[in-house]
Amino acid sequence: MNNKNFYISTPIYYPSGNPHMGHAYSSIIADIFARFKRLEGYEVLFLTGTDEHGLKIQREAEKNNKDPKKFCDELSEKFKDLTKILNLSNDDFIRTTEKRHYKSVEKIWNRLVKSGDIYLDKYSGWYSISDEAYYDEDEIEEINGKKISKSSGSIVDWVEEESYFFKLSAWSNKLLDLYNKNKDFILPVSRRNEVIKFVEKGLKDLSVSRTSFTWGIPVPNNNKHIIYVWLDALTNYLSALNFSDDEKKYNKFWPADVHIIGKDILRFHAIYWPAFLLAANLPLPKKVFGHGWILSDDKKMSKSIGNILDPIEIVNIYGVDQLRYYLVKEVSLGNDGSISMQNLKNCINNDLANNYGNLCQRVFSFIKKNCSNKIPKDYKLENIDTKLLDKLKKNLPNLIKLINNQNLNEFIKSVVQYSFEANKYFNDSEPWKEKKENPQRMRTILFVACEQIKNISILLNPIIPISTNKVLDTLNVNPKKRLIKEINNLKCFEHDKELKDSDILFNKIENDN
Ligand code: ME8
Ligand code: MG
Repeated sequence: MNNKNFYISTPIYYPSGNPHMGHAYSSIIADIFARFKRLEGYEVLFLTGTDEHGLKIQREAEKNNKDPKKFCDELSEKFKDLTKILNLSNDDFIRTTEKRHYKSVEKIWNRLVKSGDIYLDKYSGWYSISDEAYYDEDEIEEINGKKISKSSGSIVDWVEEESYFFKLSAWSNKLLDLYNKNKDFILPVSRRNEVIKFVEKGLKDLSVSRTSFTWGIPVPNNNKHIIYVWLDALTNYLSALNFSDDEKKYNKFWPADVHIIGKDILRFHAIYWPAFLLAANLPLPKKVFGHGWILSDDKKMSKSIGNILDPIEIVNIYGVDQLRYYLVKEVSLGNDGSISMQNLKNCINNDLANNYGNLCQRVFSFIKKNCSNKIPKDYKLENIDTKLLDKLKKNLPNLIKLINNQNLNEFIKSVVQYSFEANKYFNDSEPWKEKKENPQRMRTILFVACEQIKNISILLNPIIPISTNKVLDTLNVNPKKRLIKEINNLKCFEHDKELKDSDILFNKIENDN
């Protein structure tokens, strides 16, 4: 088995409205991990897409007087556009209305029937269309005469109809075993504990088909029934591998390395999905990472409060790298986090413009003026130089570990610190003073500064790809050498080439606009 393959996914989003900042957040996070694994030399499959069936979508289409497929075509296109706007490096975009997806859902269904995990009965209980979720009596409450889910706050309806059931109850112990043996299966730890508590209470069998609407994938051999949209949706992770008829891609990438999701859909990914797979006798994903909520000005972002930040608008005003950087710097990945326009501006100014951007600009213009615009090659490293470079080099395994543990915040903190230290190194070494007396010393300082800019740019590349690529272009670093293993390879530069012209990387934001 080649362990240099890496499969990562975002949730597939409901195209029931325009994409918003929450969707952008999950996608950017997943993109950063995907890009990082590529820099580590992995062959990556990064999947995103849209979840197009079910009552929620059917209702929304009806409200808009549209045929559901046509409704999805239009909105799914907007999610696709967003992948471009956010500069996502996804390798595929799956829609659950595609044929390849139908085929793998049918295949899973048939496997579950064959294993004896599906039976026909009658469902009566609560259902939230907005969450597409069943809730137990003790999970709902009544507010102002309305029954709502305690966890999501969405309205639930009483449902009674014939339904196929999945024998979820039979898998409780196997699931608990999985969580215990495999401490990384659900991360962060707080999420893992939540799930364990829920499963320890005992699981009920799960209704996996409905007869009261038509927009979905029919149950094979009984098309009065529509397959439950979550069984349908979760299978997307297999459909994209052509699970139904192409062993090659499936063998190469399954099991997935990590599903990136929001904490709202943890139950589906950490309980239902592994149970379906166990029953179908298929390998389980290695990790489910449930990140927290994005809040706006300390409140949950919501249409009714009117505090929704539109990712497209922010990208248009401030730039895509700026948004990507801000989201991962500001929000601690496992927890809920507030974002605000004021903090966004501060972050762009402090971290990007004044720190990394300023470092690059100063070094490049000094080289242009004093080194014939070429990275000096006759350097002679002194203690202070090796100290700067070695610190990053020695910490590299730790940085890689941080990323592989989804500890994006610690990672960024360290890299920002390196950038800060490189700025300080440049200041304290005062190359302008060495120019006359000791030009070789001046050249060494400039070489070291370029080397450290290269290293920092590679590390930041997954987060701010456009700006770091501009910097690496300026330095004439071959795109093939923009890899983790080239960090601290002092032989990356072509010293006889002039630096490419560079414009301002990050405009400073005035505080009153
Ligand atoms: O649940 N903060 O789709 P969905 C952070 N189709 N992340 C947020 C967020 C916020 N305020 N709002 C949304 C579905 N998200 C199903 C998924 S997967 C097989 C099927 C992100 O359109 C977060 O990742 O409601 C959350 O889990 C997801 O969008 C829900 O998107
Ligand atoms: Mg949702």
